[in-house]
Amino acid sequence: MNTTQTAYKDLILQSEGYFGPYGGCFVPEVLLPGLQEIAAAFDELKLDEAFLAEFHDTLHTFSGRPTAFTPLPRLTEEIGGAQLFLKNEGLNHTGAHKITHCIGQILLAKRLGKKRIIAETGAGQHGYATAAVCARFGLDCTVYMGRKDYERQRPNVYWMELLGTKVVPVEDGSQTLNDAVIAAFKDWVANPESYYLLGSAVGPHPYPAMNTFFQKVVGEEIRNQCVEATGRLPDYCVACVGGGSNAMGMFYDFLDDEEVGLIGVEAGGRGVQPGEHAAKVLHGQLGIFEGYHSYFLQDGDGNIAATHSVSAGLDYCGVSPILAYLADEGRVQFATASDAAALAAVQRLARKEGLIPALESAHGFAHAFELAATLPKDKIVVVNASGRGEKDLFITMRHFQEESLIAYAKHLLK
Ligand SMILES: Cc1ncc(COP(=O)(O)O)c(C=O)c1O
Repeated sequence: MNTTQTAYKDLILQSEGYFGPYGGCFVPEVLLPGLQEIAAAFDELKLDEAFLAEFHDTLHTFSGRPTAFTPLPRLTEEIGGAQLFLKNEGLNHTGAHKITHCIGQILLAKRLGKKRIIAETGAGQHGYATAAVCARFGLDCTVYMGRKDYERQRPNVYWMELLGTKVVPVEDGSQTLNDAVIAAFKDWVANPESYYLLGSAVGPHPYPAMNTFFQKVVGEEIRNQCVEATGRLPDYCVACVGGGSNAMGMFYDFLDDEEVGLIGVEAGGRGVQPGEHAAKVLHGQLGIFEGYHSYFLQDGDGNIAATHSVSAGLDYCGVSPILAYLADEGRVQFATASDAAALAAVQRLARKEGLIPALESAHGFAHAFELAATLPKDKIVVVNASGRGEKDLFITMRHFQEESLIAYAKHLLK
């Protein structure tokens, strides 16, 4: 920890929306009263015992928390280095960590008397979770989704519609998460009485801190489960990074434990050329976009650049201002994993451990496998399996079937 720094945990949750130079609240005036209302409610409710009891009870009875902490003995043996464990957030209702911040925010929206929810989604997991909590608590719901994601994450579109949510495909821009966020903000500007249920640790204040506050239960569970399973804390926690909600959820509780290494893995895509990846911390520039100051992928003129990732949930141009700050501080390290490495990690985890992670989470596994190989056997590496892989059926099936067709063709040509 930086010696002038007291405690990262306090600094983040007590901040007024700035994390070092990052964060803030850069929005059109029409949205300010709504954001101030949410910030005031969050400040009050994060200390309200009845609210917190309802939040934790709903996590347990509706989503199935605590999620499992699973040793990976066969992979550990195959790799021959550190002991590998996973935190199975894919066991949550709707299949990913996203439902945790959705439950927190829907309870807050209810307290504010809101009747209509707006959300954006990339992989569809945040949209699916939002649709589920809206159905459960009786609120009207509209979810924006880039056309490309709408097509590639079709199973989640189906579930959202079944839950009674209106899913709006966004035809603008690169038709991915960034365009969905812009469309959701436009809806909010036109309907400021609605509640925007934002799906990551990004956006204007208070969303980054509020998202982290609700998601931090992930790291709290890991702390207890790891001590119970191994007698001590992990040496490394590894999480994929899109906007940063599953990473902040995993990392927050360990921020002040200097001995625990924290590693965020960004989408390395097809290569380092602009438009071929979504690695904001490693290749982005500072900017203000979608209401907050952080690292963004931009072109030479400062316009938001195209992004690419095989996983829709990581295919986003910006990153949490909290992670930008922790990266500058050196408290969180960053790495990338390519599309190919993520796909290979899905197959490896499936074949060796009987677990099928989401493509987003598979980026964390790809890096963790490399890291574990370099470490001695007494080290512990925990990976956040932020979601399960069912939603990726059409992507992985095409990839692995194409692979087996090519292998078969090569065999015939021998
Ligand atoms: C399973 C899963 N993991 C990770 C992410 C990336 O988001 P974040 O970085 O906010 O966790 C997503 C986004 O949709 C997701 O669905």
